[in-house]
Amino acid sequence: MNAPAAPVVPSRLRDILSLDDFERAARRHLPRPVFAYLEGGVEDNAAREDNRAAFREWAFVPRVLAGVSGRSQKTTLLGREWASPFGVAPIGIAALYAWRGDLVLAQGAREAGIPFAMSGSSLIRLEEVAEASPEAWFQLYVPGDEKVITELVARIAAAGFRTLVLTVDVPMAGNRENNIRAGFSTPLRPTPRLAWDGISHPRWLFGTFLATIARHGMPHFENNYARRGAPILSRDVLRDFSDRGNLDWGHLDLIRRLWKGTLVVKGILAAPDARKAIARGAEAIIVSNHGGRQLDGSISPLRVLPEIAAECGDVPVLFDSGIRRGTDVLKALALGAKFVMLGRSFGYAAAVGGLEGVHHAVRILATEIDRDMAMLGLRSLAELSPAHLRRIAPTA
Ligand code: GLV
Repeated sequence: MNAPAAPVVPSRLRDILSLDDFERAARRHLPRPVFAYLEGGVEDNAAREDNRAAFREWAFVPRVLAGVSGRSQKTTLLGREWASPFGVAPIGIAALYAWRGDLVLAQGAREAGIPFAMSGSSLIRLEEVAEASPEAWFQLYVPGDEKVITELVARIAAAGFRTLVLTVDVPMAGNRENNIRAGFSTPLRPTPRLAWDGISHPRWLFGTFLATIARHGMPHFENNYARRGAPILSRDVLRDFSDRGNLDWGHLDLIRRLWKGTLVVKGILAAPDARKAIARGAEAIIVSNHGGRQLDGSISPLRVLPEIAAECGDVPVLFDSGIRRGTDVLKALALGAKFVMLGRSFGYAAAVGGLEGVHHAVRILATEIDRDMAMLGLRSLAELSPAHLRRIAPTA
């Protein structure tokens, strides 16, 4: 087995047996608005819930007596081998819910041999993350503005990133009613309620928020533009997210011309868009509905994965949205993904357990994959095929 051996699990993480346990622990650890940001979907959470439900519509057909000792989950993607077929998806404002969030996620991923994509909507300067973890990927949110794009892409390249992930499913912010109900906004507005939410979560307040302010100053959005953006806590509603509705395929062409490194396009749900992105130079695509955080009722990526993978030929298809278990990873791979990414679970893990939390989350998922591979009769992930799955619910 190639999952990390002889795990030394810190005592405070011993009760965390699954990725969902991290979610429960994060719900207790984080102030309500901050947890709501991470956990929430949009409107009625239909997309977020269906992302999970879609996995339950497939069952495994295991093969036996396959001699599975010595199996390996190592996976080659974008020119290098990774320890496991999963990575850390970009998650915004990580340094608000986890101490030095982006740095800790990057370090945990690097040490575990898996990829990490730093969110462009982040509170630590991208240069700091690139310096500590030069193999990290950078995820770009941009408006369709040539000057903004040119300057930011130049900044990302100068910092040393080599893989750029362009997110294309945010022409507008999603309708996050749940955030408003929970008192979350960007920036956070100082109110008595917010103060109480903080005071009633002292481990987060002192260990993450006040410690950050004391040692690194008030966090700001650092990476939406070539210059620094708004502070995370402000009385004024200074939205840092200008309209991105004017971003179009021409801007993808521009980014492709400017960016000499590897280009990944994230947020594809339609096969013709996958084809177009590849024709315009995407070296990988991520099939994703943004964890159900953008268009409610958007189709679950798992439901369109086979038809998109069929369009992509040798170009790797990555997948996110709804993965919580090793079995989910293997279902996505069997349906055509080369690799998967998880956002929320790693956010919860970093919030609750810092670097050790990230390692523990990797260990949980890698160990599940290893066990599942054995029971499916797999020695390598290349052996996985649609024949290992049977659909057990009718297509809608
Ligand atoms: C950012 O991408 C978010 O989904 O909050």
